[in-house]
Amino acid sequence: MAVVRFGVSLEKELLNELDNFVAQNQFTNRSQAIRQLITNKLVKKKTEENKEVAGAITLVYDHHKRDLLNKLADIQHDFYDIILSAQHFHLDHDNCLEIIAVRGKAFRLQNLANKLISLKAIQHGNLSINNDK
Ligand code: NI
Repeated sequence: MAVVRFGVSLEKELLNELDNFVAQNQFTNRSQAIRQLITNKLVKKKTEENKEVAGAITLVYDHHKRDLLNKLADIQHDFYDIILSAQHFHLDHDNCLEIIAVRGKAFRLQNLANKLISLKAIQHGNLSINNDK
């Protein structure tokens, strides 16, 4: 994609805050930081407007918990149309990490994530929406 340069005028205080943000997040320059801030804002807006987005649901659970694997499979089959792939990692003897890549209408992604994460046996769960496509 073509890169276009443009000038930005900012109050000195705001520029100082931007430079702190750049340093704290280890961006290589201001442009990279501003690019991410704009993208985050646009993705957030698309999510709020229930547009088509893509992201990942991350789950951590103990696979010994009764019925959990069946419930996880049942829910995912109800949302097969928005699931791109699922990857399962055995973290140790008990714990599993599952990463489910999803794409579709934002509200449906959130609905799926909420159903999975709210299962009693899920120790940790998170939905991150990363892209607007
Ligand atoms: Ni496992």
